Amino acid sequence: MNQLPVKSSIKSAVKLSSIFISIALLATPAVANGDDKDNIQQSRALAKNLFVNLKGALVAAMKEGGPAAAIAACNQQAQPITNALSSRRTGVSIKRTSLRLRNEKNAPDAWEIKVLEQFESRAAAGESLATMEHHEVVSSGEEKSFRYMKAIPAGKKCMVCHGEFITKNVLSSIRALYPLEQAIGFKPGDLRGAFSVTRKLD
Ligand code: HEC
Repeated sequence: MNQLPVKSSIKSAVKLSSIFISIALLATPAVANGDDKDNIQQSRALAKNLFVNLKGALVAAMKEGGPAAAIAACNQQAQPITNALSSRRTGVSIKRTSLRLRNEKNAPDAWEIKVLEQFESRAAAGESLATMEHHEVVSSGEEKSFRYMKAIPAGKKCMVCHGEFITKNVLSSIRALYPLEQAIGFKPGDLRGAFSVTRKLD
C-alpha cells in the first residue's frame, strides 16, 4: 500500500521540474515592508503553485487506486513537493500547517498559531475563507522576515480523509502512517489549515 505506481512517480518528477522554474522567478530583491506588493504577489503565486502540485498528485493517485493509494501518495509526495518549493538561495520557504495536524512535520510555530487563531475568529465573524490571508514583517532577534499565510478551507472532496464520517479502511490506513493523527472531523467550509510563506529579509 505504501508503494506508488511507477507512472505516478514519473508524473510527479515532471511536476517537480516545473516547480524549480518558478523558484527562479521568485529571486527578486527582498523589501522590508509587510505590505510590499511584490512579496505579497510572490507568496500568493507560491501558495497557488503548491496547491496545484499537491492537488495534481492527489487527484492522479485517487483515480489510479482510490483513497488508499491517495493516502500513500500524500504520505510520500506532500513533503518532497513542499520542500522543493522552498529555496535556500532565495531565502524563501513554504509549508502547510494547521491547528489540527496529521503530520507533525507541518506543526505551526508561535506566529503561525496566532495567525491560524486570527483566521478562525475572522471566519466566525463572517469573512470568507476563500480569500483570507495575512502578511506582516516579523522580527526575531536580529532576523527580519516577510511572512504570509493563506487560509485553506476544507472542501467536500477533502471529507474522505479529513471529514466526520471516515470509512474504517481509510482511518486505519491513516492511523498506520500517522499515529498522532488529529486531522479528521472537519466539515466542508471549516478552516482546515493554511499555506505559510517566509521570506528572509536582509
Ligand atoms: C486521500 C486522502 C486525502 C484527501 C482526499 C485529502 N487529504 Fe489532506 N492530507 C492527507 C495526508 C495523508 C496528509 C499528510 C501529508 C504529509 O505527510 O505531509 C494530509 C495533510 C494535509 C494538510 C497539512 C496539515 C497536516 O495536518 O499535516 C492540509 C492543510 C490538508 N491535508 C488539506 C487538505 C485539503 C484542503 C483537502 C481537500 C482539497 C485534502 N487535504 C484532501 C490525506 C488527504
